[in-house]
Amino acid sequence: MKKYSRPVMFLFLSVLTVSIGSCKKEDRSEYARSTRACVSMAADGLLAVSDERAHRFNGKVEENTALCRGGDKAARYRDVPWMDWANYWGTGDASSKGPDKTSLDHLSPTGRGIDGALLDLEYQRMELIEFNLFDNYTYKEYVKGIEGRPGDVIKVWDEMRLPADHPNYQDVGGDGEQVCDGSLIRNRTVTGVCNDIMNPLMGSTNTLFARNVQFETSFPMLGETELVRNRHGDRLGLLKPDPQLISRRLFTRQQSDAAACGNGYGSESSGEAECDYIKAPFFNVLAAFWIQFMNHDWFSHLQDGHNQKEYMKVGCDSDEAEQLGCRPDDMMEKAYVAEDSAPGRFTYKGESYLDRAPKTFRNTNTAWWDASQIYGYDEDSRKRVKRDPQDTAKLLMTPRGDLVGAGDAQGYLPLLLDSDPMNPAWAGQAATGFPDNWTIGMSFYHNVFAREHNAFVESFREHAKASPEADSGLRDPARPGVVIRNADVSDDELFEVTRLVIAAEIAKIHTIEWTTQLLYNEPLYRGMNANWGGLLDADANQAVQKALAKVVARFSESDSDKANKWYSIFASGPGILGLGSKKKGWDLSNPKDVNGGVNHFGAPFNFPEEFITVYRLHPLLPDALENRVLDGDPNKIISKTPIVSSFRGKASEVMTSTGLANTALSMGRQRLGLLTLGNHPNFLQNLKMKRLETETQEIDVAALDLIRDRERGVPRFNEFRRQYGLKQLTSFNDFVDTRLATGSAERTRQEEYVLGMREVYGQHVCDASKIISVAQANEDGSFINDCLGHPDGTTVDNIEDLDAVVGWLAEGPRPHGFAISETQFVVFIINASRRLYSDRFFTSSYRPEFYTKFGIDWVNNNGPDGKVMEKGEPNGHEQQVSTMKRVLWRTIPELRGELDTVVNVFDPWARDLGEYYSLAWKPRPGADDDDAFKNE
Ligand code: HEM
Repeated sequence: MKKYSRPVMFLFLSVLTVSIGSCKKEDRSEYARSTRACVSMAADGLLAVSDERAHRFNGKVEENTALCRGGDKAARYRDVPWMDWANYWGTGDASSKGPDKTSLDHLSPTGRGIDGALLDLEYQRMELIEFNLFDNYTYKEYVKGIEGRPGDVIKVWDEMRLPADHPNYQDVGGDGEQVCDGSLIRNRTVTGVCNDIMNPLMGSTNTLFARNVQFETSFPMLGETELVRNRHGDRLGLLKPDPQLISRRLFTRQQSDAAACGNGYGSESSGEAECDYIKAPFFNVLAAFWIQFMNHDWFSHLQDGHNQKEYMKVGCDSDEAEQLGCRPDDMMEKAYVAEDSAPGRFTYKGESYLDRAPKTFRNTNTAWWDASQIYGYDEDSRKRVKRDPQDTAKLLMTPRGDLVGAGDAQGYLPLLLDSDPMNPAWAGQAATGFPDNWTIGMSFYHNVFAREHNAFVESFREHAKASPEADSGLRDPARPGVVIRNADVSDDELFEVTRLVIAAEIAKIHTIEWTTQLLYNEPLYRGMNANWGGLLDADANQAVQKALAKVVARFSESDSDKANKWYSIFASGPGILGLGSKKKGWDLSNPKDVNGGVNHFGAPFNFPEEFITVYRLHPLLPDALENRVLDGDPNKIISKTPIVSSFRGKASEVMTSTGLANTALSMGRQRLGLLTLGNHPNFLQNLKMKRLETETQEIDVAALDLIRDRERGVPRFNEFRRQYGLKQLTSFNDFVDTRLATGSAERTRQEEYVLGMREVYGQHVCDASKIISVAQANEDGSFINDCLGHPDGTTVDNIEDLDAVVGWLAEGPRPHGFAISETQFVVFIINASRRLYSDRFFTSSYRPEFYTKFGIDWVNNNGPDGKVMEKGEPNGHEQQVSTMKRVLWRTIPELRGELDTVVNVFDPWARDLGEYYSLAWKPRPGADDDDAFKNE
């Protein structure tokens, strides 16, 4: 019998009650069927969130549910492996709205489509929290619990103590209880220690990456279990199938004029490059570099741009591969490994478990969203960060070349000095915390946010000058009772407050601007805004926060599973930002208040290896940048220069000649590359790296992406999906979007790549007696076997061997407006939420005691002087002028006119937004002459 999940039931019933009421009006037949389906769905009740990994929701609903939320179309596509909500009413553009086209409210069919989608997403998040946390330090405790307490409510771990040789060991309590206090809890520390004050080591530089997949299923190449051997036979190796062959056959961007593109390096005579690429109409090049900028904050496997000194071969091992243009003599440094001795085993309730993955790796960055790419993540990287000697609360910015615009007066980052600790390959680059893989794109964001840092400092000083006696809100935890007046805030304090503000602004931009453009549809707009700031008004927020605290307290000892589920679902009410910060009587001297809002769901926070896999977004980059000038005719593309011509130190020369304003205009108007097969930048397949001690001094970064994932034991695509609670595929044919017309250009392209995958990965005759996975069950409850539902002895695709990156790039069927695939998306659902839930400075320490009152207002209102509202109601929403737009207003005031019609800075700036999540590539009024719209 079905079990009912109370939190899910609670949300669902409210959705359903209103849904049934709305079933009336036109489009009788489908409408009537849908209405009846809503009633049956209500009678059936809702499936509980599963307690068993193999019986997860998988994004698939019952027929009545699909009919109720999306009519016939949603019901028709239930057979495909992809998530059902993408076919609900209202989840696409205007044409996706339900029979009652005008209404979006919960009573309308469109409303129940959108609400249904949000409910499905919440289901997935709850299951991901339940089934996908595998920490390399503490897994045994997670499974077995401690002293009778279940593992997933454990909040403090011995493994997260600072070791005896750590410089702060004594400060946090030495070998006694370790609790951070005083100066260690005031700010975001350089190495990220003491974010969680009870677990000083968590998330800090050089701690181990976690996993989101069962340890036993990682490292399929090792063939250690019967399931893995059944799944892959002897077909896998570090260079098997050949990564360079895969890159050349499945990743290469085809060029109509190869000479004009010159492998992305352009023509030597003109310095220009004319390169084709497949473009995403609703996302711009600023968005591509934004995510690289974020990655540099969150994680890195490298140490100052290096891997191990030892080199390895990287494929291109056949004539066939070589004919496609790869290089057999390329070599690359092996990845660093933290631990590769055999992991331990333990038994619990008759089942045997590994206590960590067979190999582990270090995150050489802080895992926190702390703007460490700007401010540094260890002693060396902090030395690269230059403060202004005239005002040490500020970052040093200096004039650049002949640039004299209003923004240019705010200056540019100085260059790295010979005396700075760094990789010699970085000479000539701007001085900053994280300088690896630097181009004009990184130069852009680092300069913008350094200016924003200084803009905050200046505004704070003006504010302090106007009211010097007023309480700044800031407190020193060592003297919590002492008021710090505005006039008393020291330069050092202001520097660190500003870092907190900048990190919070960046997190906000990413959550509710970048992500809502990456996933451009209504459910995700609502979902992401709810994640950050909540669905409810301020009073309701407080009420929900109180309820949340009570529910968690009630359940956490007796039924941890329920507590975690309630927590996740309730947090969609008030949002994650500030959870636990509004507690009555909140007291800086009470560690339980300061830390009380974080929730790690039983596993210390760090990113999983699988998160890095889905961020290998190299196809986002075009090969060439389309340059424009602001004070000429912004509609004209004046030149096209290869991105590589701004690589590393050359970025400084390019920035000096173009300036931030022109760079912003060019990248703001240019579309980025679609994440799909056949769209990797040519320059990254042929990247010249002079520092390599190899014959070619070149590397194919697209092939390297596959090799690194294999070195780090990321499961192959189908098992990856099963592990994350998505339905497996049964053949390469499943990658084709059958909603597209047969013979359409896009469907034909997808079908061609199906043949390509079959060619490279091959096929085999299947053996139904071999079980290949227990992470998902068939409809009849049996486990998946080698035949994937085909009759025994059938020749089946080697889809189990497909590298995860190849698979997610191949996904044709995607929800509307998704620049990424659904497989990548589920990885984000869990990790993007955890990145906020686990961070004290976004939850219970999001308070004036740390940020100042002025700082909290700045983050909430997107700058000084209160909220500023956007014109009209874009996509049906009244909204504030976005944080990023206001950052650009402040740091590059020259852009004010250009940004007038821009709502989301990551949407191509000259595109007409059209109606409700339109993806049309049409110029807005005033940009009809824009070169980017010609011949399209
Ligand atoms: C011109 C721009 C870029 C260059 C030259 C570049 C180059 C590289 C190289 C050489 C590596 C391999 C490092 C190694 O494992 O040895 C790498 C890794 C990576 N790149 Fe890029 N990349 C660029 C842009 C981007 C962008 C836009 C993204 C988007 C998110 C991105 C995401 C990644 C990720 C996630 C990794 C893995 C990092 C790790 O293992 O810690 N890169 N890139």
